[in-house]
Amino acid sequence: MFRIESKIDTKGADFLRNQAAYLELLDKYRETLATVKSGGSPQAVAKHKERGKLLARERIDLLVDRNTPFIELSALAAYGMYDGGFPSAGVVTGIGVIHGKEVMIIANDATVKGGTYVKETIKKHVRAQEIAMENRLPCVYLVDSGGVFLPEQANVFPDKYDFGRFFFNQARLSAKGIPQVAVVMGSCTAGGAYVPAMSDETIIVRNQGTIFIGGPPLVKAATGQEVTAEELGGAEVHTMISGVADHLAENDVHAIQICRNIFESIKRHQYQDLETHPIVEPCYNPEELYGILPIDLKKPVDSKEIIARMVDGSLFHEFKERYAPTITTGFARIMGYPVGIIANNGVLFGETALKGAHFVELCTSRNIPILFLQNVTGFIVGKEYERAGIARDGAKFVHAVANADVPKFTVVFGGSFGAGNYAMAGRAYEPRFLFMYPSSKISVMGGEQAAGVLITVKEEQLKAAGKQLSDEERDKLQETILKKYEVEGSAYFSTAHLWDDGIIDPVDTRKILGLAIAISQNKKYEKTQYGVFRM
Ligand code: COA
Repeated sequence: MFRIESKIDTKGADFLRNQAAYLELLDKYRETLATVKSGGSPQAVAKHKERGKLLARERIDLLVDRNTPFIELSALAAYGMYDGGFPSAGVVTGIGVIHGKEVMIIANDATVKGGTYVKETIKKHVRAQEIAMENRLPCVYLVDSGGVFLPEQANVFPDKYDFGRFFFNQARLSAKGIPQVAVVMGSCTAGGAYVPAMSDETIIVRNQGTIFIGGPPLVKAATGQEVTAEELGGAEVHTMISGVADHLAENDVHAIQICRNIFESIKRHQYQDLETHPIVEPCYNPEELYGILPIDLKKPVDSKEIIARMVDGSLFHEFKERYAPTITTGFARIMGYPVGIIANNGVLFGETALKGAHFVELCTSRNIPILFLQNVTGFIVGKEYERAGIARDGAKFVHAVANADVPKFTVVFGGSFGAGNYAMAGRAYEPRFLFMYPSSKISVMGGEQAAGVLITVKEEQLKAAGKQLSDEERDKLQETILKKYEVEGSAYFSTAHLWDDGIIDPVDTRKILGLAIAISQNKKYEKTQYGVFRM
């Protein structure tokens, strides 16, 4: 492979200006992250600690092997929603290593409304299980939850991917031989009782963990029986009488130790062998990404400059360098693993789509994972392009990506607009992971374009009725649409709604993708089968 020669002047005014603006964005991101990671209100945190309980993230720290990374997912889920009342959507999810095995950890944060579930909590929990299924990751549930957040019941209870999906997933995961372990460190009420009950192995903490289908108030209302929580479903009851739990722990630390011990007898399987090379750091400092990544999306960025700061040795075997340059395709290595990279360098033309589809075929035929680096405004529009069949060529790319059964990973480093989002493995195309940068944007089209479309539609409507839009009305409409797109198009809005797996610091991309590719080997890559390509 050849080394990418950077053309960036890291001392130049453009670079320094971009870097300063990016660092500001990053500061905001870090502050926001620190705030949500502090969990619920200080009073709720104090109450939790007074009970001798560890916080959700402290529990995870103790659970994973020392000096190994924990990749937290969607930390900013539900950000800006519910009046800020559900930091991280009240649940911490992520991938950690226990006794050398990668594990999906799902930990309720009881300091956030008693660890109850709103829509985003459920989406996050289900997404974590989906990742576990796709990558054959054992699951550990650190349970401390009052179940459904009752005022939101209509949004969380009955639908296909609502609360009931947790237990469905546990059964399916277990059936596939993917271990399910629960540690009951607090409440598991009503539906929540099925998390430990449906696990392969369950630990419960004395005087702290409870499991019941109906809590004491419900029992009293339904039967008149007066019973304490401990008598009804405490650790003694479940480890000695009911058998709903298997191990009694004296406290959080003891429970976590038992959980780690369980993993001593769980074998790690590697079903797909990627040919690995020794890890080599990029020749260019990844921190230089701050000076290069687009903040103003109108400014073109050469995606090879991004690739040079992401891949091992900045080495890149480019494919079709001279053809359709608005997309860059080629092979590289990340943390020693082979990867095919498809990165945007501008708008998608017909030939760009053909190049992309061809490259996807190369990757699937060689069983190489694909990394999509998105900065895409969409497909080209206009009479000549429609006549040349842009929709047909675009469809080939989308078809190839949809059917590519090697692991796909997507990082949005700029904009993600229109059908370009689909062709470049947006969420609907099932990348194993999709991450955003703090500066990235995502929406069906840019705000200005949307405003233009909607104003034209309105004008046509009024014209048909013999009226017209005043300048003032037009300005007002434009302003409203621009504002809406600015809010809804931001990475924060995306991550709050779980359209991605989290916002990441660009410098961490290599490390995160390295782990993502590593865990993809836990499952044999399926053989890709394409359908009908429209020719
Ligand atoms: N729905 C909505 N809100 C709930 C809730 C639920 N199921 N369970 C707890 N909360 C809220 C409380 O109103 C309180 O809100 P606030 O901070 O705004 O006052 C917060 O969560 C903490 O609850 P609190 O009871 O003060 O904390 P706790 O640590 O002493 O007890 C529980 C936590 C979960 C054990 C307890 O609240 C409980 O038993 N809740 C009911 C659980 C239940 O029956 N769920 C059935 C749903 S399927």
